[in-house]
Amino acid sequence: MSDKLRFALIGCGRVAPKHIEALANNIEKAELVALCDLEESKALSLKEKYESLLQTKGAHVPQIRVYTDYRELLSGNEGINVVSIATYSGTHARIACDAMQASKHVIVEKPMALSTMDAQMMIDVAKNTGKKLTVCHQNRFNPPVKKLREALEQGRFGKLVHGVAVIRWNRNDEYYKQANWRGTWQQDGGVLMNQGIHDIDLLQWMMGPVDHIYAEADTFLRPIEAEDMGAALLRFKNGAIGIIEGSACIYPKNLEETLSIFGEKGTVRIGGVALNKILDWKFADGLDDEEQVKQLVNYEDPESVYGHGHTPLYADFIDAVLTNRDPYILPEEGKKAVEVVLGIYKSRKLGTAVGFPIGDFSTVDMVEKR
Ligand SMILES: NC(=O)c1ccc[n+]([C@@H]2O[C@H](COP(=O)([O-])OP(=O)(O)OC[C@H]3O[C@@H](n4cnc5c(N)ncnc54)[C@H](O)[C@@H]3O)[C@@H](O)[C@H]2O)c1
Repeated sequence: MSDKLRFALIGCGRVAPKHIEALANNIEKAELVALCDLEESKALSLKEKYESLLQTKGAHVPQIRVYTDYRELLSGNEGINVVSIATYSGTHARIACDAMQASKHVIVEKPMALSTMDAQMMIDVAKNTGKKLTVCHQNRFNPPVKKLREALEQGRFGKLVHGVAVIRWNRNDEYYKQANWRGTWQQDGGVLMNQGIHDIDLLQWMMGPVDHIYAEADTFLRPIEAEDMGAALLRFKNGAIGIIEGSACIYPKNLEETLSIFGEKGTVRIGGVALNKILDWKFADGLDDEEQVKQLVNYEDPESVYGHGHTPLYADFIDAVLTNRDPYILPEEGKKAVEVVLGIYKSRKLGTAVGFPIGDFSTVDMVEKR
């Protein structure tokens, strides 16, 4: 019997290779024993990919069972400890709750859910079952982002004045046509819920709880129900102001993904392919961290916008399970990011500013937009 944590992955699409790679990079403590996708061929090709990653590392290749029904996987006899979920966003809550109720710990892709009620249900089920749950906001593990968070915790900014999250990307018609759940209110939401949520998560993590929000959003160019461009103005409970701008319509390709935090005594901008580089780092305190910052200015760009964060997120979660501590990203944090995006949607729907907490709200409430 192996002493490694036994993982299953449900959903074997576009982001799934990041999960396989993260598992292969954590092979000393965890191994994949089951895969599930509605399309068996996708699970089979991911199985091959994982096996060849392990062979390249000279590691033992475990038996991997392939399923097309996740409920069968949950009741299978592979001794699964942890389930990772990378299915359509609208299915995360149901699958995560079923997995925790089947006594599995869960890593769920972002956004954790598409309604405040579902996000809360997931948090409650984690508490009631005693299972651990984390959300893939993997950019929280990027060294520049961790360094920024540290500076905030040390109070180096003084009074916070404003924070800005910008995602100016291009997601073309072909991207949306590849998978018909994308851009739907039922299963996804628009550019803010799908792509922008990473930056929105970081903005609210740095700036603190939101007091109210006003937003404008629309579908300009892409063949989808939800927004392909949206902008929001936020007031945080600490009085600081926030600005969110997200677009899938930038011509002709991705332009930038940037997080900026401005305070009385500090200015920081983080950018790069996946929020992995420091663009500006200026503080009044003259603290001697220049060498470390220089390294993060020249930090290596990852090969895709998914970045390098899944591997440390898995390492953290595996350790959290093995040592029975909280994961770095608690499910309550996943809910906060979802609530900001839903606050934007609610403001768009009502045409007014929306106070926090926003109460029960779901992307599905946007089906009747106005
Ligand atoms: N963390 C990140 O940076 C990041 C990046 C991309 C996508 N995502 C998230 O990951 C999720 C998947 O995105 P994607 O781009 O890989 O989508 P995708 O359409 O490429 O893949 C999703 C897969 O899930 C399968 N699936 C759907 N419902 C299922 C079910 N009930 N049981 C088993 N399989 C099921 C589909 O057949 C499909 O193969 C989304 O929630 C998305 O927001 C996160």
